[in-house]
Amino acid sequence: MQPANLQVRRAEIADLPAISRLEHACFADPWGEDSLRSELTQSIGRAWVVDREDCPAMLLGWLVADEFQVNRVAVLPQARGQGLGRALMVRALLDAQSCGATRALLEVRADNVAALALYRRLGFGDLSRRKGYYSDGSDALVLDLPLPTWTAPPAKSQAAAAPAHMTEMKA
Ligand SMILES: CC(C)(COP(=O)(O)OP(=O)(O)OC[C@H]1O[C@@H](n2cnc3c(N)ncnc32)[C@H](O)[C@@H]1OP(=O)(O)O)[C@@H](O)C(=O)NCCC(=O)NCCS
Repeated sequence: MQPANLQVRRAEIADLPAISRLEHACFADPWGEDSLRSELTQSIGRAWVVDREDCPAMLLGWLVADEFQVNRVAVLPQARGQGLGRALMVRALLDAQSCGATRALLEVRADNVAALALYRRLGFGDLSRRKGYYSDGSDALVLDLPLPTWTAPPAKSQAAAAPAHMTEMKA
């Protein structure tokens, strides 16, 4: 269930230490601080965090021409299953849409059940499969989502309880 006070904001360079902590807590191949700094400062970089002191979640992407590419979504293990990943994705997709992006793209391990559930619930569809893409032999899936008419579907857990416009966080 999504916490009532969930707020998402654009990340700033001051969030670098928290984003780095999230990288190390969530990924086997964490990006180093230099790469993360570049994500936060380069002109195509777009980043969001959940606005809480413990910074439990972040999303990193690129906005290139009319395409929005999601590069990283991470939620601290103890904060998962509460709608944080969804809230970040919805905010990022709406921001990209309002900046004129017509398509969102991402790449995900074919065995990443949680991430695939999150992306598919938001409407992402399969574009291609990259066989043996990762160093352990796992496949990558490339997913995409047309943005021009996209609206966030209600969360399964909340669909019965309230209309969609009451369940999304405010920008
Ligand atoms: C993937 C990840 C970001 C999901 O974050 P989260 O905050 O736990 O996800 P949410 O609580 O917002 O759930 C979003 C939806 O996905 C579904 N979902 C989430 N985890 C799931 C799981 N393990 N199994 C099945 N469905 C799952 C939820 O049911 C929810 O559906 P709903 O919107 O219809 O209610 C999180 O698991 C994570 O940080 N994983 C490690 C990093 C990673 O793999 N990132 C993705 C690749 S960059």
